[in-house]
Amino acid sequence: MAKEVIFTGLRANNDLHIGNYFGALLAIVDISNHHASDFEIDLMVADLHSFTTPIDHSKLQSQIMENLKVFVAAGLPLDHPNIRVFRQSYIPAHSELAWILDCFTGMGQISRMTEFKDKSKKVGQNKVNVGLFNYPVLMASDVLLYDVLYVPVGDDQTQHLEFMRDIAEHMNRKFKQRLFVVPKPVTEQHKFFKKDQGLRIRDLLDPTKKMSKSGENGNGVIFLTDTPEAAAAKIQRATTDSIGSINFDFEKQPGVANLLQILALLSGKPQSEVNSQWEGKDSYGELKSVVAEAIKSFLTDFQAKLATVDETKLMQKLEADELAINKAANKTLLKVQKAVGLRPA
Ligand code: TYM
Repeated sequence: MAKEVIFTGLRANNDLHIGNYFGALLAIVDISNHHASDFEIDLMVADLHSFTTPIDHSKLQSQIMENLKVFVAAGLPLDHPNIRVFRQSYIPAHSELAWILDCFTGMGQISRMTEFKDKSKKVGQNKVNVGLFNYPVLMASDVLLYDVLYVPVGDDQTQHLEFMRDIAEHMNRKFKQRLFVVPKPVTEQHKFFKKDQGLRIRDLLDPTKKMSKSGENGNGVIFLTDTPEAAAAKIQRATTDSIGSINFDFEKQPGVANLLQILALLSGKPQSEVNSQWEGKDSYGELKSVVAEAIKSFLTDFQAKLATVDETKLMQKLEADELAINKAANKTLLKVQKAVGLRPA
């Protein structure tokens, strides 16, 4: 019987940050290390998605390699045959399926996506491109090509997961066949990844916003490539509040809650345990120092692993996986092409 598929993608528009690491990457690395034999696990560099917001195109190639190395440094076991890594643009079926699905997607459906509304405000109306608007359709294609059930992503992608399910069900109904496997409902996905909800790490300087790679100047973002000292300094400068009592309350005290959240993630402890250690105390300075120390030791350890990644082995794995992935993707694409009349049935 075919194995259940777990899939995620990360853009290569900038260095990855701790939101990407804890929101998406860690879940897939954890499963890869403990249950790789039970699943098929696909990790994609979403290079086509990388220019939904403006980037320096001359740096894209090196950024793609850097992000792939981050996957390995995070602990992805490259040797396991059930784990596949690939670059989105090396699999042309993604773009072709996206076009087909575009033509079955309502403008209204896509216009509701809050991620588009947030990002387009940030980028500025005159810089917003059509790719940013319809990237959930390409994202749905990424997933639907491979019979995926589980997609670990951060909270910002929840609506896009729901869209994937909607478009898959719509196509299956319209063409009266099981063209696509429908990914599990979002609540089941959270349960699978042992979470109550999708994760959202906030920007350190403006904790009402999510931490984001395309953030204005990076001062509120902890990149995995920041020096441990620079990252600690960013924590020390994090915005808190004037309430004077530590509480895990994202509504009233988003800055403090964000620090508690980051501390729980870095220490691998349950949020409730970290909260009960800190709640009610007035020592914001002490909390910042503890989080700063935790981030320093996390990055020191992570960057030591990053420095030892074997690039030759990584490239060999990538190229072999892309060959296999192309075959799998083309198989699904052909089924769709036949259903919509582009190929003889
Ligand atoms: P991207 O590259 O913007 O982000 C990669 C992953 O990191 C998560 N994330 C966060 N999680 C918690 N807190 C944050 N502050 C935070 N910021 C980002 C994102 O939710 C994401 O899981 N469209 C996707 C990439 C993609 C993809 C796919 C994902 C393309 N095709 C197919 C899954 C399946 C994106 O923009 O991710």
